[in-house]
Amino acid sequence: MSPKPQVLLGISGSLRRDSFNTRLLARAGSQAPHGIRFETFDRLGELPHFSQDLEDNTPSPVTALRSALGSADVVMFASPEYNSAMPGVLKNALDWASRPTGHSVLADKPTAVLGASPGRYGAVRAQAEVRKVLGAIGADVLDEEFPLARAHEAFDSEGRLRDGDLDAALAEFVATLVRHAGLHTMAPGTRRVADSAAYSRQCQHLAS
Ligand code: FNR
Repeated sequence: MSPKPQVLLGISGSLRRDSFNTRLLARAGSQAPHGIRFETFDRLGELPHFSQDLEDNTPSPVTALRSALGSADVVMFASPEYNSAMPGVLKNALDWASRPTGHSVLADKPTAVLGASPGRYGAVRAQAEVRKVLGAIGADVLDEEFPLARAHEAFDSEGRLRDGDLDAALAEFVATLVRHAGLHTMAPGTRRVADSAAYSRQCQHLAS
């Protein structure tokens, strides 16, 4: 039987078509270590405004959000900064994900936050806010940030960061998160095998 894939879920807090945050998330996901599958949840725009009145009959996009979060091993959020805070769509998603209180799919979930802005600071205030809210929900939040400043000139045509050092730092940020989550990674070029004992032998624990 094939081992369950280890999933790194990415959620962008921007609904904008050419979002810098979505691009940053995609670049981060493309640098996930071997053995980790990167997936995204891009339905924040479908979530209704949170209301406790809606909780008795969970709307289907909320079920989809909770399912994506619940089955992910680790989650990255990329947050734009609107008026020194996270966008309402992202706060709305986190409020939905926080419920039911005490049984949130985010409880103890390893998470990290990134942010991009055309400005000079790379959405640091929004990132701090997202980390605060994740902490309040009980998620296991990486105590690091990844601010991408001057995002409008940061990407090349392939979606990489033009600044090679920053691109490498992004890869290290993702590797740190994966290590923090205790996931197993595979050496590049290693094929996934069906036998789980052989798979374990092929796996390289980053923390070791
Ligand atoms: C912004 N922007 C912005 N940028 C910033 O660095 N600090 C801020 O406080 C704000 N405030 C703000 C408010 C509103 C309502 C908008 C629409 C924009 C600019 C913002 O960083 C920019 O539009 C980014 O491109 C948004 O992220 P995405 O959509 O590219 O991911």
